[in-house]
Amino acid sequence: MKHSKFTLAALPLILLAGCASTPDTTALTDEARKTAGGLIQTLGGELKAAMTAGGPAQAIGVCKERAPKIAAEAAARTGMQIKRVSLKNRNPKGVPDAWEIEALAGLEKRLAAGEKPETLDTHSVVNTPDGKVFRYAKALVMQPVCVNCHGAAESLSPEVKAKLAAEYPDDKATGYTPGMIRGVLSIKKAL
Ligand code: HEC
Repeated sequence: MKHSKFTLAALPLILLAGCASTPDTTALTDEARKTAGGLIQTLGGELKAAMTAGGPAQAIGVCKERAPKIAAEAAARTGMQIKRVSLKNRNPKGVPDAWEIEALAGLEKRLAAGEKPETLDTHSVVNTPDGKVFRYAKALVMQPVCVNCHGAAESLSPEVKAKLAAEYPDDKATGYTPGMIRGVLSIKKAL
């Protein structure tokens, strides 16, 4: 890293940014991106391993138990709140709030405009009664493997269908095809 000259030249800017009403979110965005990327990789790896070992009906446990645990571990490490939400949620707690609904709409538009799914994310700083909060959302885009559990309801295996019906009686998370946005990984941090 070359820094001495650059750092000195940037100092007044950094000081100014500190006084302005919008904080500099570069470092936070980097951290959120890294956290989200790590989570997606870990979860994807466990999902694939479980699918290979026992098929999709067995792998449902990875999404149900491991996803929240992996997110909680990352949250403890980073001080960020992390969850997955969707307009058509499976987990009853996976309902998006107003910021997440807007983020999803924006990401859908960018996907439709041809942006690459892997890098589709967005962030902002919002004012709340408790102060400023950094918000980040990364699109979770359907891959072929996801169709086993989120594809057209009539295409799911009888085992998967039965398990989902038993564990998620209000499931809305079917009917997706590869390339669609299934939901977002949503990260929050109080500033
Ligand atoms: C083996 C079945 C299975 C596969 C394969 C699967 N999911 Fe899921 N997915 C689930 C279950 C079960 C839940 C609910 C988890 C919970 O209780 O929080 C879920 C929840 C989600 C959620 C959280 C929002 C919600 O609806 O509750 C997202 C987003 C999601 N899945 C995306 C994906 C993506 C993207 C893929 C492919 C990379 C994928 N899933 C593959 C079973 C699966």
